[in-house]
Formats: sequence, C-alpha cells, structure tokens
Amino acid sequence: MKQITTFDAYLRAYEQSIADPEGFWAAVAEDFQWHKKWHKVLTWNFTEPRVSWFEGAKCNITENCLDRHAARNPNSVAIIWEPNNPAEPSLHITYQDLMRRVNTFCHALKKIGIKKGDRVCIYLPMIPEAAVAMLACARIGAIHSVVFAGFSSASLADRIKDSGCCCLITADAFCRGEKKIELKKIADEALVHTPTIQHCIVFNRLNEPINMLPGRDVWWQELTNNCPDEFSAEIMDAEDPLFILYTSGSTGKPKGVLHTTAGYMIYTAYTFLNVFNYQPGEIFFCTADVGWITGHSYLLYGALLNGATTVMFEGIPTYPDHGRLWDITDKHRVNILYTAPTAIRSLETFGTDIFKTKDLSSLRVLGSVGEPINEDAWRWYHTHVGKNRCDIVDTWWQTETGGILISPIATVTPLKPAYATLPLPGVQPVVVDEQGKELTGSPAEGNLCIKFPWPGMARTVYGNHERFRQTYFSTYPNLYFTGDGCRRDAEGYYRITGRVDDVINVSGHRIGTGEVENAINEHPDVVESAVVGYPHEVKGQALYAFVICTQKIPDTEKFGAEVREVVAKKIGAFAKPDKIQIVPGLPKTRSGKIMRRILRKIAEGDTTNLGDTTTLLDPSVVEAIIAGSR
Ligand code: WT7
Repeated sequence: MKQITTFDAYLRAYEQSIADPEGFWAAVAEDFQWHKKWHKVLTWNFTEPRVSWFEGAKCNITENCLDRHAARNPNSVAIIWEPNNPAEPSLHITYQDLMRRVNTFCHALKKIGIKKGDRVCIYLPMIPEAAVAMLACARIGAIHSVVFAGFSSASLADRIKDSGCCCLITADAFCRGEKKIELKKIADEALVHTPTIQHCIVFNRLNEPINMLPGRDVWWQELTNNCPDEFSAEIMDAEDPLFILYTSGSTGKPKGVLHTTAGYMIYTAYTFLNVFNYQPGEIFFCTADVGWITGHSYLLYGALLNGATTVMFEGIPTYPDHGRLWDITDKHRVNILYTAPTAIRSLETFGTDIFKTKDLSSLRVLGSVGEPINEDAWRWYHTHVGKNRCDIVDTWWQTETGGILISPIATVTPLKPAYATLPLPGVQPVVVDEQGKELTGSPAEGNLCIKFPWPGMARTVYGNHERFRQTYFSTYPNLYFTGDGCRRDAEGYYRITGRVDDVINVSGHRIGTGEVENAINEHPDVVESAVVGYPHEVKGQALYAFVICTQKIPDTEKFGAEVREVVAKKIGAFAKPDKIQIVPGLPKTRSGKIMRRILRKIAEGDTTNLGDTTTLLDPSVVEAIIAGSR
C-alpha cells in the first residue's frame, strides 16, 4: 500500500477515491494475499440496503495478518503483552510464534467440531489468548463474537443467545488493578440460559478454583496439548462474515453488528497505515479492550495486517499508580499511543508532577477515540504527553463503520484541537438538516450521514436485516445515518458534537438509555424510569436516572445502591447511573412520550430555559422534579 505523506497527496488520493472509488480501492487491495481476485469491486444500494466489496475474491484475513509476515520477518514482534501486575514479566510474541499459537488453537477448535460459519463467543481478559482465539476463529472460518469481560452474565447470555454461539472461550479469573474478576463464575451463570453452547474452553490465567462441567468445559491448556502448529487456513469468500460485535442503540436490545472479510481487511489495514503514519518497526499501543471495535480494528487486525508490533495491556491506567501508561510507553519504547479522552481527563486530575520522572521521548503520534475530545484535554495530551512535538489524530468512527472515517492523517493534515478534521479517502460525509436536506455549503451544522459505501462498513445486524435498514438507512433516504451531530467549519473541517439520539457515551462506553431503563425497572419498587446523560468532567457524560416508585422509599441511599446493583447485574458496572432521583411522575406528552429534552436540561442543572412545556400532559410534574433535583 502506498502511504500518504503530504497534504497534497491526501487531496489527490481523496479526489481519485471519489471520482473512481472502484479503481481506488482495487489498487489498495492489490497488495494483499488472495487465493482468487475479485470480478467486481463494488455492488451497492442504500435502500435494501446491500453492499458487497470485492465480489468473487477469495482470501483468509489471517494469512494476511500472519503468514505474510511470518515468512518474511519471522522474528519480528507481533504482540507485546503487558500484564496487569508490573512485577509479572511482559511477553514478546513474534509473528512466527503467534502464527504457531493460532494454528495450534485452530486444531483445538476443529477437534471439538467447530466449523466454518459457526459462531464462537469470546469472553476473555486482555491476554494474548484473546488475540489467538479471534485469529483462530477467522482462520477456520468461524465467526467470532467478542463480549467485553466487563459485561454481566445477563448481557453475556443475551449475546450468546442472539447469535446462537456453539462455543464459549473464557478464563478462570483475572485481575484489573486491585480487583479480581471471577470470569468463569460469571460465565457459568450465563451458561444456564444458553442451550446452544456445547463447549466452553477455559484458559487458566490465575489458577483459581472453578467449576468445570464434564463434557462441556475443557481447559485451554489441555485441549491444545499435542495439537500441531501448522494449519492451512480456510479459504473464505470476500463477503463471508468475519465477526459479530454487539453495540447499543437508542431502542431495543444491543445489535449484533456484522462485518465481513475482504472489505474490513482492506479498510482497517489502509486506515491504520495512513492515520497513524505507521513506519516499519514502530511500536503501537492501543489502550482499548479487544471487547470493543477499537480493539478489533486497530489493536489487532489493522496492526497485524501491517506487520506492526502491537502492545496489549491487561490492566488499567491507574494501577499501580497513575503513571502506568507512561511507564509502559517508556518500557516498550512506544511510538504511537492510541487512547480515549476519558482516560486523558482522568489522568489530568492527578496533575503533571508524574511527568518529571517519565521520558516519553519514543512517542511520535498520539491518537484519540471514542468520544469528542474537548479542547482542554487535547491541549493537555499535546503538551504533557506529546511534548508539543506529536501530532494528535482525533479519529471519528463507530462499531458500524469498522474503521476510522474522519480523522487527521498524522504528519500530513494540519491539526485543529477538538476537530476530527477531514474525511479519509473513500469517505463521503454529508451534513443534513432535520428534514434531511443536504447542507452543501460551509460552515454547516446538522446531522452527520455518509452517502457512499466504504469497504469497512457493517453489512447487516446479525439475524435482523430489517433492523439494520431501519436503524441506519431509513431516517434519510439513500444515506447512512451515523446518529451523530456535527459542525463543518468554513475550511471544511468536521467537529463531531455527539449523539443526537438516545445513546449516551459514558467514559467511551456506548450505552442505550432504554437498556438502562429496562434494568432499573426490574427493581421491585420501581414503576417506571427515564435515563438521560449529563456532562461529566472525567467521563464525558454520566447517567442520571429519574425513577417513579411504587411506594414511599424510607431509605433512598439503600434504594440507590440497589438500583445500581440491578444495573450492574443486568448490563455491567460501567452502566451504573451516577445520579438517581425519585420523582412523582415523568414529563410526558399527551401521546405518552417522555420528553427527554426537559429531563436533560434538569440533569444539566439548567432549569431556567426548559423550552415549550405546553404539550405536556401534566406540566406541574416538571416543577416537582426541579424541586427534587436541588
Ligand atoms: C460513537 C461510536 C469508534 C470506536 C469507539 C467507539 C462517538 C467515537 C469519536 C470522536 C467524537 C466520537 C460517536 C460515535 N465517537 N469517536 N473521535 N469524536 N465522537 O465506538 O462504541 O460504536 O461508538 O462514539 O458518538 O457515534 P462505538
């Protein structure tokens, strides 16, 4: 792949990608290993919708991640693993070694009967085996569905059931900071509800005493014993599914976003190389968990496709102290650091003394992802971490987009704090108003849509194509609707202003208000609830729950703790509301719709300008809520 190294080259690439998208992406795809080339680069419409890239082509993404590099540079390091506890040794896994581990695990999966097209759920901490499991699935043609290890048993069960997984891969337990998480115990609670699971493979991480169900549960270490370390990859069609990843929307249960093989491969590889301006031999450190799309596309696939060295960190930025990310950076001489604004803001609260004892001179490029980065955090990151010499790439994208869509290209695009700047080649953003009219001039402010397919985009919601159409392609005809609002300035630079739907971004975790409300409503004393987001210094947004109860609650502290516990059990601890207010009623329209706009204002503490409340069924309810919020 040719790397973009000047702004002029970016402009030319962009122009070409719009004038001749098929020619543009075909040229990028030339540099990959194919069993057979495509006969048609792109077929698409955004009405059904149907998108198909590189039709007729055959390949396996893991040959491009592993075999290519293992053949040329067997001893170059693919993964540096940094454990939670800094006293435990880190691991350096070469491309050759990683390929062997993946091959071995392919045999293990085959041994228990997993085959092409089967869904395999991966519920693991940040250990190399998570990468091995994902790659082995891809290598045998099974569809991986990674569930973040912070999700509860109920969430895990929902996800397993929705995609009908036949196998679960998990670990006995692991530590995040000081906290021990007994993963297999949580998995066991889920497995009671998941009849499709025939096998549960357990990696022994901490030697914890756990239950193993004979016939179903097997130790990773035993299963892989005596498996050969060579395996020839399943040859996949370009549009064969690669993975499912669940994400939250405004309504209903989380959706299983489905990504396919060739387009995702080309797109993550291309964007990794260009956005981070990756140079051979450099060390890339992405702090995201493999349970999220950032972990899939950049920590793993994008990095390995480029033969890069990727750092995988099991712990958290504040353990054993708030210098941990800088220690890892210095220890492994990290060149590119990719993290989230919430992490930056939380480290910001500790001050800058810590930097006196850290070097950080290896850093060259910094990345930000997951939520809008405010100007303050941007400057802190730029000054104290990047020492004013590293570009910051503020990368805007989504689980559904598979890869980065709007972002600076490091060393190439002139930066502007808090702006994701310009679309990458092949990406055609449009700003539309409420009526769906495209705002062609600049500046413009409205909802962000994309009007042309890019190779990395999701193809469907697993098992529910109608929901895919409805969610992304029905709001505005012939456009992919992102759910985000944005501003385009006079120079054509984009600033993402946040979600315009009922999705809330808490510390970079995407949470649907409906999901949290459903969880809260499970509490026996709750009649109804409404959850909104409000600005939070560190988390970006936090959750505020307004709750109607069946009876007078004598101990509101205790009640609040119980509600949070229900949410933790139903979804995961990260979705616990920060504020819980018991209210006599909720502001509803005559048709029964909750007016969240009003609740959002109250949650923000701005009660002077609530807008029009005349359409409310009972306007007095608002007064009562305001009184109670003080
Ligand atoms: C939502 C997608 C993309 C990987 C991690 C999140 C928000 C993401 C940015 C950014 C402003 C951002 C958007 C988007 N978002 N990156 N650089 N600037 N907002 O993936 O969980 O699917 O969430 O995260 O609101 O829609 P996700």
